[in-house]
Amino acid sequence: MVVFWRKKDLSGHLEAIRDSGGTIGLVPTMGALHKGHLSLVEKAVEENDVTVVTIFVNPTQFNDPSDLEAYPRTLDQDLKILQTIKTDLVFVPSVKEMYPVENTQVFDLGGLDNVMEGKQRKGHFNGVAQIVSRLFRLTSPTRAYFGQKDFQQLVIVRHLVKILEMNIDIVGCPIVREKDGLAMSSRNVRLSREERKLSPFIYKTLKQAAAQKRTLTPAGIRSWVTEEFRKQPGIELEYFDIVEDKALRPVINWDEKVNKVGCIAVQIGGIRLIDNLNFD
Ligand code: PAJ
Repeated sequence: MVVFWRKKDLSGHLEAIRDSGGTIGLVPTMGALHKGHLSLVEKAVEENDVTVVTIFVNPTQFNDPSDLEAYPRTLDQDLKILQTIKTDLVFVPSVKEMYPVENTQVFDLGGLDNVMEGKQRKGHFNGVAQIVSRLFRLTSPTRAYFGQKDFQQLVIVRHLVKILEMNIDIVGCPIVREKDGLAMSSRNVRLSREERKLSPFIYKTLKQAAAQKRTLTPAGIRSWVTEEFRKQPGIELEYFDIVEDKALRPVINWDEKVNKVGCIAVQIGGIRLIDNLNFD
């Protein structure tokens, strides 16, 4: 495994691989790696000649400075884990390396960035587009791997490659969960023991909501979920919606011929957690 800190070293190395006809898999991450991240890396290693994992806590996608500061950073451990699963290349740039001058680029994300996460976290997806587009340009991957855990991000990245006319296959990977159903996230380590005990309620409620499709309308399910969280102390519901998976438009009727996804964001002790479930 080779670790790169500089853009020019990484791009030089990748150029040689591309010239010899090799495929490149890219897995962008912010580190503090867990089994969710590793599932993406394993798939990339399986499907490509060379896999690049990037570890960069991207400041431009954090709208809350205290969240950026508190974001877990475990580089030594991350590198050890990546080595065990046969990662070829790791790119760990500094903020200066990625953004030598302030990045003021604004993307037109077609309104996909105005709903759900975008409403709660102003500018978040523009920051994601800034870093992801730079990583794409730098590495020109054959395939790039993103988790369905961040469902809206995945939809936006698919949109991004279209508007930038980049020929990259965006591979969506299933959500990896703890045994009790909590979706794995780098933020989970910040939960206290009590908060961690409460957290499986999120997935449990999503599953119960999906199971009521036959008896309730989408609007009925939205109200039911809101009520369940109102009755549950310690967890604050930020939003729950059932949307279709292209334009992220709210689903009105079950007979709409679209893929339906129930998306949720909550706060537990000031820590934001998101999750989603297929509602087809
Ligand atoms: P990060 O939160 O580190 O996640 C990196 C990738 O791992 C994302 O594609 C995310 O969806 C995926 N992932 C996280 N938890 C997962 C889980 N439990 N199951 C499956 N996949 C999971 O998402 C980001 O970083 C950043 O926004 C990034 C794309 C790197 C841009 O900065």
